[in-house]
Amino acid sequence: MKFFIDTAVVEEIREVHSWGVLSGVTTNPSLVVASGRNFHEVIKEIAQLVGGSISAEVTALETKEMVAQGKVLAALHPAVVVKVPLTPAGLGACAALRAEGIRVNVTLCFSVNQAMLAARAGASYISPFVGRIDDINGNGIELVREIAEVYALHDIETEVLAASLRHPRHVTEAALAGAQVSTLPYKVFKQMISHPLTDKGLDQFMQDWAKGSSKQAK
Ligand code: G3P
Repeated sequence: MKFFIDTAVVEEIREVHSWGVLSGVTTNPSLVVASGRNFHEVIKEIAQLVGGSISAEVTALETKEMVAQGKVLAALHPAVVVKVPLTPAGLGACAALRAEGIRVNVTLCFSVNQAMLAARAGASYISPFVGRIDDINGNGIELVREIAEVYALHDIETEVLAASLRHPRHVTEAALAGAQVSTLPYKVFKQMISHPLTDKGLDQFMQDWAKGSSKQAK
């Protein structure tokens, strides 16, 4: 499973990218506003830094405007993937952008039927929102599993990009459910890497080495 980071904060992206684990970045209008940066400038900077797949979301409700915005976003950098919402207008925009060779991530997916429609419209990625389904007492991971199963059954190439993952267990479960990609906030990356026994073990190794290293040097 590939990892994307779900943020528009360049310092966070730079840090996790330095671990050698990032295949892309996802942003949305809320995250771009939270970054305090100019939308196009920040997307270009992120794309140059990470490459891979950089999702940049349209902020329009009609197909024509979504397509126009999508073309501008795609022209910023070859790594840009245009993100559109899972609405009739969004599906229309997805099909039109795909016809121009532009990759599309269809977002705000909450059902298998929506995911099948997005695949038909030519989506490169479908983004089921796991945490937001859990928020209303549903089972977000089950949705990821069902989409992955239907896509596999019908040889659909659209990649399942598990989004709205809120904690490390979500990540493990998304991988087990068959997601090809998970996008995670910076905080979840930090939680994933952290283990008290890793810290304890390393501390012990360093202490032992400091005690005996003078002999090693001779
Ligand atoms: O990628 C979608 C993500 O940003 C939504 O996460 O936690 O706001 O539901 P959340």
